[in-house]
Amino acid sequence: MGWPVGHSLSPRLHGFWLRKYGISGSYEALPVEPANLRAALRALSVQGFRGVNLTVPHKEAAYAIVDEADPVARRIGAVNLVIAENNRLLGRNTDAYGFAQNLLSGGFAPQTGAALVLGAGGACRAILAALADMGFTDIRLANRTQSRAEQLAQEFSSPRCRIIAVSWRDAPAACAGSELLVNTTSLGMKGQPPLDFALDALPPGATVTDIVYSPLETPLLQQARRRGYRAIDGLGMLLHQARPSFAGFFGRDPEVTEELRQFVLAERE
Ligand code: ATR
Repeated sequence: MGWPVGHSLSPRLHGFWLRKYGISGSYEALPVEPANLRAALRALSVQGFRGVNLTVPHKEAAYAIVDEADPVARRIGAVNLVIAENNRLLGRNTDAYGFAQNLLSGGFAPQTGAALVLGAGGACRAILAALADMGFTDIRLANRTQSRAEQLAQEFSSPRCRIIAVSWRDAPAACAGSELLVNTTSLGMKGQPPLDFALDALPPGATVTDIVYSPLETPLLQQARRRGYRAIDGLGMLLHQARPSFAGFFGRDPEVTEELRQFVLAERE
């Protein structure tokens, strides 16, 4: 469910796995106006759906509607997966898992525990939760509107993971000592201006990742590769967040493979 939802790659992604594993199920894109979200979620079971994924703009609203939410969803305050069971709606959030799995399967393993995160919108919340769970202890958070970064820093800081808001202007300097740089802003997305960001202070061996996956190679990732950093694109996050959803809907833990990636990419181009 999304509004709009026509751009979603998820039907193609789940369709690939349904065919691969010979499961006679289906995964449909449902355009749902925000005002109708509650009724649409409550009607899932009676319409024969096992559950649903939520995309923009429904993730926070769905969290407020579900009967139960898992601990990660509660921390993030948003759900991207709802399972309809015995007339109850169980909300989950698999975005943090998807983000972490994408990094790990791209060969990244945290060592120093310091990261710089750009952006403080909805997508950033799952990423802060993921980084804390991966063992990051020192996160610098920079956003154009600094008050949003300060609010998130306060909300997501814990004794194990200190998050400090830095100004947008000082963000390039905050690359110093960071083993990971994450773009969670919409900059670099097709139709948006590029993220014009100097990587000079980023230490050698650092990793750069972007949640934007259209285009796959954002100007930020291009710059990172050119300078010899490891660059991990955002498509993997989409593929990995779908795994627990598919398992919840269809009872099988599916694999993220190169073949799946190519299949999903073919649709986009
Ligand atoms: P979502 O909640 O879906 O992540 P959002 O709230 O619009 O979407 O957040 C988009 C992010 O991209 C925000 O961090 C936003 O910064 P602001 O909080 O200052 O709006 C950031 N962003 C969007 N356009 C930007 C721009 N031109 N320069 C810098 N940051 C930008």
